[in-house]
Amino acid sequence: MNDVLPAEVGAWQRLEDCARELLASYGYEEIRVPVVEHTALFKRAIGEYTDVVEKEMYTFSDQGGESLTLRPEATAGIMRSLISNGMLRGQRHKLWCVGPMFRHERPQKGRYRQFNQIDVEAVGIPGPDVDAELIALTARLWRRLGIERVRLEINSLGTPESRRAYREKLIGYFRAHESSLDADSRRRLEGNPMRILDSKNPEMRAVIAGAPLLTDHLDPQSREHFDALCAALESIGIPFRVNPRLVRGLDYYSRTVFEWITDALGAQDAVCSGGRYDGLIAQLGGEPTPGIGFAMGVERVVELLVQAGHVPAGRAADVYVVVSGVRASAAGIGLVERLRDELPRRRFDLNLGGGNFKAQFRRADRSGAALAVILGDDELARGVAAVKPLRNEAGQSECPLPELAAAIEAALTGAAAPAE
Ligand code: HAM
Repeated sequence: MNDVLPAEVGAWQRLEDCARELLASYGYEEIRVPVVEHTALFKRAIGEYTDVVEKEMYTFSDQGGESLTLRPEATAGIMRSLISNGMLRGQRHKLWCVGPMFRHERPQKGRYRQFNQIDVEAVGIPGPDVDAELIALTARLWRRLGIERVRLEINSLGTPESRRAYREKLIGYFRAHESSLDADSRRRLEGNPMRILDSKNPEMRAVIAGAPLLTDHLDPQSREHFDALCAALESIGIPFRVNPRLVRGLDYYSRTVFEWITDALGAQDAVCSGGRYDGLIAQLGGEPTPGIGFAMGVERVVELLVQAGHVPAGRAADVYVVVSGVRASAAGIGLVERLRDELPRRRFDLNLGGGNFKAQFRRADRSGAALAVILGDDELARGVAAVKPLRNEAGQSECPLPELAAAIEAALTGAAAPAE
């Protein structure tokens, strides 16, 4: 679980601001849901035999003895919210949220126990048009952020019915190779054999490589859906690779699944992943409604931004206000409040806590301000303040207090102009 320090927060804000603006432009609305839900919700939505539910949830009993869990992902909570607020009834919803998720995973670079997701969900639209549009939205986000080292993989998981037939074939295959399976996979053989395909154990690679492919067992409607998605991505001009082994770690998916992966983050290569979950809402007790969505790992995208050098510098102060003398110190705060009214976009640092001239100018220098405004008892008595540029050789000048805001703005605008 990480602290995000002030020096790092600029990259987070850049990503969040960019995503917020882009999602609004595609017609998505923000939703805010709790970080805790009943444990049963995640078991039902994500699946009993998934790593997330079996090993990674932060589950506890509250004072009333109810089993609650810190959300490991956002989709289940958002669907619960749509159901409990009576928002389905044939309606469509395009929603997004951002916030922390919790998984008790083995921490390593890019994998944390509290991490943040930007999560996006389109509910009530069967696709494949919305599938393609969601992927186009993510591709546009990478372009806007200047992130290049990502590529797209897609697959189709078919319908639960077509998966059942495939499941039998898969069980048959893994039974025939049972001696090559690790303990986890043997346990999953009956409960959820597709999870074996998701195994991260390198010793399982060979046996997984020989397993039958789900893509060869798709039902005709899922095949048509997938072909239409591929055609749409081609027509938009988004390169992709069909990865028949992409099965995802959560059980609610059907048909389209996709993942943006990178070679820039070591082992944790998934930056943004998602897919269609047409059966999930009905499974949670809502009226049958299709849905598709994705979530991106904020920490991972931020790391890509940092690596690409696209981190905005922290904003320095524009003006540091130096005050000296008893009367001027008392008047300084009123003066700066007035300046803030007049120049709301400028950042003023008022010298707080006293100090002699030398100490105050040292602070002014450290603040990065382009200008110092100096108010002493003598200036105050004459109704003026001194204005001194801190980053060029221009000399100090005096300015009547009523004209100070205009003089500051002129000096700052001049200071920002490129040098001749
Ligand atoms: P997920 O693949 O479990 O999907 O997570 C989505 C993204 O969250 C991953 O691609 C990764 O970038 C990030 N992530 C996951 N675990 C960690 C971790 N421990 N540390 C840092 N980042 C992590 C979901 O959560 C689905 N709810 C996505 C979705 C929405 N599907 C449909 N709608």
